[in-house]
Amino acid sequence: MTSTPVVCIDGPSGAGKGTLAMRLAKHCQWHLLDSGALYRVVGKACLNADVAWTNEEGAAAIARTLNAEFVVGDREVHVWLDGVDVTAEIRSELGSKGASAVAVLPRVREALLARQREWARFPGLIADGRDMGTQVFPDAPLKIFLTASAEARAERRYSQLLEKGESVSLPRLLDSIRDRDARDSSRSISPLVAAEDAVTLDSTTLTAEQVFSQVTDLMASRGLVGRTSGDRPDTSDSAN
Ligand code: DC
Repeated sequence: MTSTPVVCIDGPSGAGKGTLAMRLAKHCQWHLLDSGALYRVVGKACLNADVAWTNEEGAAAIARTLNAEFVVGDREVHVWLDGVDVTAEIRSELGSKGASAVAVLPRVREALLARQREWARFPGLIADGRDMGTQVFPDAPLKIFLTASAEARAERRYSQLLEKGESVSLPRLLDSIRDRDARDSSRSISPLVAAEDAVTLDSTTLTAEQVFSQVTDLMASRGLVGRTSGDRPDTSDSAN
């Protein structure tokens, strides 16, 4: 498929994948695919075009022609849709609902497959998502499945939303995380499951630092670090 090294970070929402993926990408100076942002921006583009999240053909057409740009910032991947910064909107609770709704549509997933594979470019890729190791990069030399208890994930999400000034209730957040987990794990296409050859890490009682150091140790033991170029990659990844 590709000779570019890819490290897959899969797992449920709030397990710390985004933080880990961003740190790894910066540390290795590799590209970063935030595939959740891709599903989120498809949900937002559907809203803009007045296409229902349940309209599979309409949403797939949008996914195929998406005019989006992804730029790795200090703390998150910033996203522009048709030239408009939609970062905050796609990361709101409404953005999460839209992403989860369009992510169950097989034709949307199919439309995004080739687009995601294009991210695998020299010197390497950190791919963050749900099906990176099972569907998108099945030959990746390292696959991490990062989990944490639903309670720990709800608390982390709660603090993030508070920091952004969004007021939410923790019990409702926990319910919505459980709902989303159930939807993501039970859908017929690309369900949220660990790849057979994935290393599972449970971050419930680990700090972000501990998770990062376990993964960099794994990368080193598989000969993946040390292959990085000294030059910073172009961090602007266009999905056109
Ligand atoms: O990682 P995230 O929370 O930004 O993902 C948003 C939604 O998109 C979530 O419901 C799961 C879905 N998703 C997916 O189905 N496949 C991916 N590779 C990434 C995200």
